[in-house]
Amino acid sequence: MNYHVPVLLHESVEGLNIVPNGTYVDATFGGGGHSSLILKKISKGTLFGFDQDEDAKRNIPDNSQFVFVHHNFRYIKRFLRFYNVSQVDGILADLGVSSHHFDTPERGFSFRFNAALDMRMDCTTQLTARDVVNTYEKHALTTIFREYGELSQAHAIASAIVQERTVAEIVTTEDLKRVCKRFCNPKTESKILSQLFQALRIEVNKEMDVLQDFLQAGLDVLKPGGRFVIITYHSLEDRMVKNFFKTGNIQGQVNKDFFGNSESPFEIISKKIIVPSADELQQNNRARSAKLRIAQKI
Ligand SMILES: C[S@@+](CC[C@H](N)C(=O)[O-])C[C@H]1O[C@@H](n2cnc3c(N)ncnc32)[C@H](O)[C@@H]1O
Repeated sequence: MNYHVPVLLHESVEGLNIVPNGTYVDATFGGGGHSSLILKKISKGTLFGFDQDEDAKRNIPDNSQFVFVHHNFRYIKRFLRFYNVSQVDGILADLGVSSHHFDTPERGFSFRFNAALDMRMDCTTQLTARDVVNTYEKHALTTIFREYGELSQAHAIASAIVQERTVAEIVTTEDLKRVCKRFCNPKTESKILSQLFQALRIEVNKEMDVLQDFLQAGLDVLKPGGRFVIITYHSLEDRMVKNFFKTGNIQGQVNKDFFGNSESPFEIISKKIIVPSADELQQNNRARSAKLRIAQKI
């Protein structure tokens, strides 16, 4: 099975505005689709590919210009420093999980298979989806389902989970589906389960906290003129990126200088948000919620 089909491949790599001897970071190496195109464009440069998932190692290219960093991209600054790199020409991040995660039953990311509720991208971390579902208080579950899953029935589903676990621990994806069944009908089931599983995955992997750290660290390591290219897949992360590119902070708080001019560390390159073409969507349905934003450090 294909590990992952890269999304917005040409649009995002073009967004990096590659110089052949530059230093670049692919923060989300995965199946290496974006990395492989970047490597074609750097004749003398270097590409650092980060991925926290052990499985991504199987896609490491045999190329002396490529350095694989098996770590969380929130520590990009620390690991680049380890390689004696203080500034880079461009950073690309294609957020979230890969098709490999969804298509590997035992990782527990997909409601299509019965498996243990895991959902960790980095299997050395402690917190699993099983822990979240069985130990978080009702209000915390409600918040996660509402904010990360945009589930209108967040409170009702959280209540049902809390009720169910007084009887028996919720251990598998099937257990969780059974609890949620009463909130779904055949038309809404797939959407509701996708939203629920997405919410849990974001919590397990602390994706919003990680993104916040990464944006700041990325800004610090970019050279003036360097490009930040980010593909997001849900509205919360897109809003965070949009605010950060516009203002340099995730709240989107516009700071003004003495003369009243807005101060931002970036020039926005993608004036209009970039989404996959109809052609791409026809070939890859998993690209459907992708949004690409590009900014250049001033
Ligand atoms: C959408 S996939 C990227 C696919 C890749 N662009 C390609 O063309 O194959 C996201 C990848 O980033 C990794 N990832 C997600 N969050 C990460 C993080 N905080 N640190 C390091 N890797 C991360 C995941 O393990 C996954 O392999």
